[in-house]
Amino acid sequence: MATQHPATRPANPRFSSGPCAKPPTFDVAKLAGAALGRSHRAAVGKDKLKAAIEGTREVLGIPADYRIGIVPASDTGAVEMALWSLLGQRKVEMLAWESFGSGWVTDVVKQLKIDAEVKTADYGQIVDLASVDCNNDVVFTWNGTTAGVRVPNADWIADARDGLTICDATSAAFAMDLPWDKLDVTTFSWQKVLGGEAAHGVIVLSPRAVERLESYTPAWPLPKIFRMTKGGKLIEGIFTGATINTPSMLAVEDYLFALNWARSVGGLEGLIARADANAKAVFDFCAANDWIANLAEDDATRSNTSVCLKFTDDRIQDGAAFAKAVAKRLEAENIALDIGAYRDAPAGLRIWCGGTVETADIEAMLPWLTWAFEAEIAAQG
Ligand SMILES: Cc1ncc(COP(=O)(O)O)c(C=O)c1O
Repeated sequence: MATQHPATRPANPRFSSGPCAKPPTFDVAKLAGAALGRSHRAAVGKDKLKAAIEGTREVLGIPADYRIGIVPASDTGAVEMALWSLLGQRKVEMLAWESFGSGWVTDVVKQLKIDAEVKTADYGQIVDLASVDCNNDVVFTWNGTTAGVRVPNADWIADARDGLTICDATSAAFAMDLPWDKLDVTTFSWQKVLGGEAAHGVIVLSPRAVERLESYTPAWPLPKIFRMTKGGKLIEGIFTGATINTPSMLAVEDYLFALNWARSVGGLEGLIARADANAKAVFDFCAANDWIANLAEDDATRSNTSVCLKFTDDRIQDGAAFAKAVAKRLEAENIALDIGAYRDAPAGLRIWCGGTVETADIEAMLPWLTWAFEAEIAAQG
């Protein structure tokens, strides 16, 4: 029994699924150029917000005719403003296979009171994407962060569609290829894959989404922080850096730093390769050990960011307590922080594999996982 500590320790034990590890080159001193104590509406502030928007477009390869806005309240704010501003014009299909997708279902069905068609799958599985009719508005999560299950592709989204696709891509953007022609509304937060700060969300609108905004007024009232139109026209300023309300210029500077780091590792392609290499290290570990497995049942749906794991050893007496104890041991050793499964998800672990995490740190951490597992089996008595 390997009760000895493994020889190597990860240089950075941060494997949280959000806020995620900062880029490896991060140093708070590098944010010294932030426009602090200045108005975000002054040229210096507006230029930085514009650079954040155009840097997002460049790194993610977003088409020139798509609008990109920095909005309040992180990814949640961006998703909510889309749901409240756009839905109600036609039939809605809601797809959910984990906690965040289920949260959007609750909002649409219970708060907006839309009689949506709801398609759900258990943790580890995905809904029947072939059954989705894209002449309806469709709301889905690209990567289900709490299940580690992602859509395998966008082939199920018709090119010619009457409905809008509204995609929560917060744990996918900057780690997975997002086919912009298939996505009408895409949202994410800075605190995820690039290891930025929370508080601000990004909303990306296709020309068809803008057309809907300008031609349809929902039956319910919209608070100021959700409003993207005025007098039936898009408020273009939101998409050029004139934010709805005051942003944190420190968070903006931090995001600009993260975008520059992304460029330095080869842009989107480099970020995807880094996440893939990290996730592969974990997948290989699961393949080599029969006591642990990926929660995602179909390999084609395995996330390369929020990799969720379950323990499969039949000696385990209390699955939830066991998983918590393993995570606690790793945290106590400062080997892996914040890797317990999400509170609503099945018992297990979740290891963030996005590009800001170094593969060497994943590789150094995994033998410790074996150590913690064996120690906990022994501790059960
Ligand atoms: C898929 C998904 N949607 C929404 C959120 C909420 O994000 P935020 O706290 O940035 O609003 C998260 C956070 O983990 C997420 O993973």
